[in-house]
Amino acid sequence: MADKDITNNENGFGSPEKGEKSKGGKGKRKGKSRGPNAGADSNSSFVSDSTAAIAVSESQSSAVNSVNDATQLERDQLVKLKKAMEMLQMRDEAVAAAATAAANGPAKTTDDAAKKSYEFWSTQPVPKIDEHIVSGNECIEANKPQDILRHDPYTLPEGFHWDTLNLNDPLVLKELYMLLNENYVEDDDNMFRFDYSPEFLRWALLPPGFLQEWHVGVRAKKSKKMVGFISAVPATISIYKKVVKLVEINFLCVHKKLRSKRLAPVLIREITRRVNCQGIFQAVYTAGVVLPKPVATCRYWHRSLNPKKLIEVKFSHLSRNMTMQRHLKLYRLPETTKTEGLRKLKITDIPEACKLLNKHLEKYDLIPVFTEEDFLHWFLPREDIIDTYVVQKPANQDINSAVVGSPSKKDNSMVITDLVSFYTLPSTVMSHATHNKLKAAYSFYNVSTVTPWVDLMGDALVLAKKSDFDVFNALDLMDNEEFLEKLKFGIGDGNLQYYLYNWRCPPMKNENVGLVLQ
Ligand SMILES: CC(C)(COP(=O)(O)OP(=O)(O)OC[C@H]1O[C@@H](n2cnc3c(N)ncnc32)[C@H](O)[C@@H]1OP(=O)(O)O)[C@@H](O)C(=O)NCCC(=O)NCCS
Repeated sequence: MADKDITNNENGFGSPEKGEKSKGGKGKRKGKSRGPNAGADSNSSFVSDSTAAIAVSESQSSAVNSVNDATQLERDQLVKLKKAMEMLQMRDEAVAAAATAAANGPAKTTDDAAKKSYEFWSTQPVPKIDEHIVSGNECIEANKPQDILRHDPYTLPEGFHWDTLNLNDPLVLKELYMLLNENYVEDDDNMFRFDYSPEFLRWALLPPGFLQEWHVGVRAKKSKKMVGFISAVPATISIYKKVVKLVEINFLCVHKKLRSKRLAPVLIREITRRVNCQGIFQAVYTAGVVLPKPVATCRYWHRSLNPKKLIEVKFSHLSRNMTMQRHLKLYRLPETTKTEGLRKLKITDIPEACKLLNKHLEKYDLIPVFTEEDFLHWFLPREDIIDTYVVQKPANQDINSAVVGSPSKKDNSMVITDLVSFYTLPSTVMSHATHNKLKAAYSFYNVSTVTPWVDLMGDALVLAKKSDFDVFNALDLMDNEEFLEKLKFGIGDGNLQYYLYNWRCPPMKNENVGLVLQ
């Protein structure tokens, strides 16, 4: 359908097609070949007929030479016309192929998504892409009793087998690291690829309550090479105040050489089956592509910390009328933080900081609910994985009411008033002569009750800069719009879509999302 529309709209082919039609009649064109192909075919037979006629006339008298000259001219023109038509045809086919690819390949925008048919996702309990949801907040399909669930794994294509990964085994962890390092998410221009470190993967995939059964690998039978992966970790998530025990799905990856072979749907079905077998029927996940159907759409913003390197690797560019010197000055940061009482989170802070964060998150529509055990896992600082800082101040009437909502805390005690955290996720810089890595900090969860947002996050930038990060990234969710522009973050070019599996609820605005996945 798409290529038909394009050929019909293509001016270059309008006239020759019509001309040919009037000459050769309808019978020459069948079905789809009515467009550019038909025009070129009929045209080329017309050229060879003329050439034969010209060959005969060449052996005749000089009286007909002038006629021959005219015919030669006509022949040259026809050859040129033929070439032009072939070029137009090739261009037309390229446009049509691109349109078909856009319709069949992953959708980057909601407009692309509206034109796509989702062969796999249309079979799943997710809202349809054009579904308008204004009310309700509940599962799409009821939980299934264990005895009707499928208990054997889905069938993989011949030559591959499932492998449940023991990520406590350093060799297996390294294999997963390599799969992702070489095949995981890239930017649209294929210049950067996420480079999750092995220890980061252990942090992300082995939180409290993790199940090895949910670390699902695919290997090639002969070589034993890991060629696919998908994971689930347990989480308690509140959706519009309804608390649901579900899983977070992450790290879906298929080796580059096995792409577009429908392996991803098998991985998704298998992880769903394994999660269902544990009595869980909902999931949350994020993706850069548009699938049926996002519950929210967020956007990454980027704050240069090492502007020179970011320009060198083409992560950012100098805007018009900007010199490098002025650019560097624009992004210069203070040497030291300015918030009094800002320090690293300690293990003894866990109960208070956990309460502070859970309370802060209550104002958003999609949030995790952390136990102290979860909080310790996700926030206690780990070098090159997660940084968390808190602001601790002597308690007084104002601070108590800001933090705990009542002036009940004893006046001589200290209170944690604010929290800021970011995780470490480098990217490989593909094909650059001198730089091969970009060190990025990703804003995780932040709370401001006393320290203004701009001061708190400004200090996070200073700390990240001191730790040699090149860029600080943050989504435009929660209260982040309070500081993004003011702290000179620049808007990124891709969206991060949030999805719920087997859940129907109205969409939420980016600023009402209170969940960050790695
Ligand atoms: C994402 C990836 C696993 C998809 O594999 P693929 O070989 O391109 O696609 P397949 O032929 O196996 O499967 C296509 C189906 O997967 C769906 N799909 C593609 N990307 C998806 C994603 N990120 N999440 C869920 N489903 C996805 C497609 O929409 C399609 O289903 P449909 O017919 O309903 O439209 C693969 O491209 C990859 O590893 N990419 C790099 C890592 C990455 O982007 N991971 C996802 C992070 S969110």
